[in-house]
Amino acid sequence: MSEIALTQAPAHVRHGSNMGQPLTRRDGVVKVTGAARYAADHHPPGMLYAVLAVSSIARGRVAFLDVQATKALPGVVEVMTPANRPALAQDPDEKTNPFMFRLDLLQSDRVRYANQPIAVVIAETLEAATEGAALLSPRYDTDPARIGLDSTGSFVPPAVGVGNPAEVHRGDVEAGLAAASKQIEATYETALQYHNAMEPHAIVAAWDGDTLSIDTPSQGLAMAQARLAGLFGISPSKILIRSPFLGGGFGSKGFISGPQVLGVMAARMVGRPVKLVLRREQMFGPVGHRPPTRQTLRIAADDDGKLTALDHRTKTTSSTFDDFFEPASDISHALYASGAISTSHEAVRVDTGTPLFMRAPGEATGSIALESAIDELAYACGMDPLAFRLNNYAEVEPMSGKPFSSKALRECYAQGAERFGWQRRRLAPRQMRDRDGLLVGWGVGTATFPALMFEAHAKAVLRQDGSGVMETGAHEMGQGAWTALAQIAADSLGLDIDQVEFTAGTSDLPDAGVAGGSAHTATAGMAIHNAGADVIARIADLATNDDRSPLFGAGNAGVIAWNGRLFRRDDENRSESYADILRRAGLLQIEGHGRSAANPAAQSTYAMYAHGAVFAEVRVDPDLGQMRVARVVGAFAAGRIINPRMVRSQLYGGMIWGVSFALHEHAVLDPRSGRPMNPNLGEYHIPVNADVPSLEAILVEEHDPHVNALGIKGVGEIGITGTAGAVANAVWHATGVRVRKFPITLDRLIGP
Ligand code: MOS
Repeated sequence: MSEIALTQAPAHVRHGSNMGQPLTRRDGVVKVTGAARYAADHHPPGMLYAVLAVSSIARGRVAFLDVQATKALPGVVEVMTPANRPALAQDPDEKTNPFMFRLDLLQSDRVRYANQPIAVVIAETLEAATEGAALLSPRYDTDPARIGLDSTGSFVPPAVGVGNPAEVHRGDVEAGLAAASKQIEATYETALQYHNAMEPHAIVAAWDGDTLSIDTPSQGLAMAQARLAGLFGISPSKILIRSPFLGGGFGSKGFISGPQVLGVMAARMVGRPVKLVLRREQMFGPVGHRPPTRQTLRIAADDDGKLTALDHRTKTTSSTFDDFFEPASDISHALYASGAISTSHEAVRVDTGTPLFMRAPGEATGSIALESAIDELAYACGMDPLAFRLNNYAEVEPMSGKPFSSKALRECYAQGAERFGWQRRRLAPRQMRDRDGLLVGWGVGTATFPALMFEAHAKAVLRQDGSGVMETGAHEMGQGAWTALAQIAADSLGLDIDQVEFTAGTSDLPDAGVAGGSAHTATAGMAIHNAGADVIARIADLATNDDRSPLFGAGNAGVIAWNGRLFRRDDENRSESYADILRRAGLLQIEGHGRSAANPAAQSTYAMYAHGAVFAEVRVDPDLGQMRVARVVGAFAAGRIINPRMVRSQLYGGMIWGVSFALHEHAVLDPRSGRPMNPNLGEYHIPVNADVPSLEAILVEEHDPHVNALGIKGVGEIGITGTAGAVANAVWHATGVRVRKFPITLDRLIGP
């Protein structure tokens, strides 16, 4: 059960509905007062500290560790190495499905990437464990590292992203290019990025016989529980994961990571609770990253400025020992209409950790390249880049021909452009200056993200005192899930939000699925909605079959649940409270269950996406090349908005990430050693407050009845797409210099 008492956000005027209201964050007060406990805040009695020793080479083997020196240090309890680590029930290199990622759990002395765990030192204090790890003084047999997009031969991956084909072709691209009057071919490069959540991966693990209790951040509790059950050969029911709050995940906490499992192994080895927390630099390796890409686009248009061909090729990297391939070209399936579209991917294997889903995986990388290329072609055609997009956005999903909500996209362009003041833009670059003489540039980018849904479960309870409970194993990652989900819970139960106990955050609750793919509100929300409907149907059954009830004979389809009562649909003067119905039936409470999943019939008929249009203004120092984003306006259509306050926050977060993608984030690997050279937040640049412009997110009203019964799409990732390209295009418009290597830094802008 959750140990967190959520604050009661003041209820605004609700007009009978909790959904749609801008309730304040229900976890807000516990967060800002420090009462919210994150994994590393736990300290069970007898707990020891574990610290990872990680590899300083990228490829080879560990030849020697000075375990004796470490063990001689006062306070050190144990040193876990491949020689003595506890046995596992499953080989960490086993892969029985595409989403079972291989883990480094000290299975051998081999080194496959820099910062790979090579030993774990367990001690009475953090200081002793840290010093003990340094005393290991590893020696290596080193092989040359293979780093970068050109380091080894490339191949066509078997699949990209979530099982998508690596190559997709529709129509004849070469014929489309030949028939065009204008065409461009350009190559864009995006940088290696690391997730860098504020909260590092952390775990406090305690064994009691063969039961395991852990505090650790997880974007998908049931999935983490199942993975641990497999590795340790115990039933999932023997594992309790507490993960109420995450200090960000961004995809790197979607699957349980190697270091988290090492914490569990350490606890097993010493027979005491163990805490293991990654240091910032240790997150640059074993917990995923966004791989670099090189994308070549050939696109062409006819005399009317209509696209005739779109060819999008991506080269990316994966690790030498596992498969994840960034699906950057796939964005070209979803945005612009062209008679011929071809997308493909190739990859090289390099000596890094395995890349992973990272915030708009594929869409973010692909979007900045596609939006830049579209901009370049618009100028080749002599057209305003917004007019060119309006001329070419797809009315149906370009690849499948399925209908999708393109009307909503058109509305996003219109509302965003109006609010931004786009019509005052000068077409040619380098024409606008501010009062300080800085060059001003305006850019636009189209945003999109698929509206996905996974499977989730929830349990609803109505109690004799008239209150309700909704249970699902969801966590609060900062996105506002517990507020939005509680709003859905309250409406599904026909109760005020203050009367519903929303219980989440532990793995003994019904599986809430994974909070990823921007699908959590739809997925967990629909399970909650269905659980509420189930319990209401059960209580309605009690009343409508009881001749002492004013609802007798109505049938459960003939009642409406509202404000803690059931009303007859055909006569709202006849009603009865839940409390009275349960009391007369002699029940203390009544339970219902709900499950959600995507609807395959709707999915095969309709293409499902959220849409948006983003407009950015940058100011560039004409002499120094220093860039600042001054403002960003995004208009987004994402189906039904459960909580506009939380949704705006999510969109701002995405837009800031888009700015970061275009101008800041760049992990540098030393090509000789394969080591990350800037594994800290001082040198791995992310936007700080001074870098964040004025942001506006317009919520464009959209009713999409096909995605799910509540019409919910996602907003977590779409803000990055569109924004990154809009900023890049604005830099070009300010300066007349097209930088095709991201992030756009001033050395690249003023160039050699
Ligand atoms: Mo994510 S990359 O959907 O957490």
